Amino acid sequence: MSSHHLPPCLLAIETSCDDTSVAVLKEGKILANVTAQQHIHSEYGGVVPELASRDHERNMLRVYREALKKAGVSKEELEAIAFTQGPGLLGSLLVGVSFAKSLALGLQKPLIAVDHLQAHIAALYIKEPNPDFPFLCLLVSGGHTQTVLVRDHFDFEVLGKTLDDAAGEAFDKIGKLMGIPYPGGALIDKYARSGNPDAFSFTYSKVPGFDYSFSGLKTQVLYFLQKQEKENPGFTEKYRDDLCASVQAHICTYLLKPVQRIMRDTPLKGLALAGGVSANSQLRKDMGELAEQHGLNFMVPDFEYCTDNAGMIAEVARFKFEKKEFADLSVIARARF
Ligand code: KG4
Ligand code: ZN
Repeated sequence: MSSHHLPPCLLAIETSCDDTSVAVLKEGKILANVTAQQHIHSEYGGVVPELASRDHERNMLRVYREALKKAGVSKEELEAIAFTQGPGLLGSLLVGVSFAKSLALGLQKPLIAVDHLQAHIAALYIKEPNPDFPFLCLLVSGGHTQTVLVRDHFDFEVLGKTLDDAAGEAFDKIGKLMGIPYPGGALIDKYARSGNPDAFSFTYSKVPGFDYSFSGLKTQVLYFLQKQEKENPGFTEKYRDDLCASVQAHICTYLLKPVQRIMRDTPLKGLALAGGVSANSQLRKDMGELAEQHGLNFMVPDFEYCTDNAGMIAEVARFKFEKKEFADLSVIARARF
């Protein structure tokens, strides 16, 4: 076998939002996926971009060294350096891009620019390298909510998207209304386990086509809590678990509506979840059941690869390396595509 058929040894960097992550891929396996989570944002109820970029600066070198050490790989072995080009917070992206460029320059190795959203979907290929196509992926994160028809590994068509807030943003903003620290998604998931999902109901936002809207739910919850608190002080705290279960059930049911409509007229081999919100236990269960009812394959990344991580960046980079899709040193970060 000639050497170019061997999977490359790659280093990948992800800094698009508030997680500093570095992964090392060797012989087709992710040997390290080290992530430093920033906790400074919880008291602000959301990511503060200026603080995020400063924390990336503080964490970058340490996370990089730790990833190499954990993988047992020396920097001389690396064959390319991959990084998240966007979308994301510009200041945060810049830290990763600059670090990647200096490494590539210092080691005289090529650079690979990766689209963060493609990477969330590619996280599925870590577990299932060759799934049956086409499948429908519900991509749900703190910044995006999309239904994506995946025809081949990197052949995508976005069928629907949110017109305002993302699903993760809805979880986080509603969490904030309830006094739950940022990011609220995972805690709502946890509290919901001991709550009644039918305790409270909210109206679904009607949006044409396969699109979503989440800002109405946030407003409904806000007014509902204000009214209840006036009549019954301490309501939010007392009914925290029921509120979490009801909000989570609402979001999950709503997310699956367009998926079910798409399934009616699109022949599919499978359903998939990706992005930070794919860590949600209710959503994983609901989507898995929907797939099963229709005899479809169901895919979801392991928890480690649901929220932002460099492993998924390495997974895209592996394909790009094979196609020699390298970026020039003049490449720049992009907040949007
Ligand atoms: O993909 P991600 O790490 O970052 C973005 O690219 O946005 O997604 C982060 C989002 C946050 O909104 C967080 O609250 C949400 O994913 N999230 C969850 C859960 N774990 C993370 N939402 C609901 N349930 C969870 N278990
Ligand atoms: Zn993400």
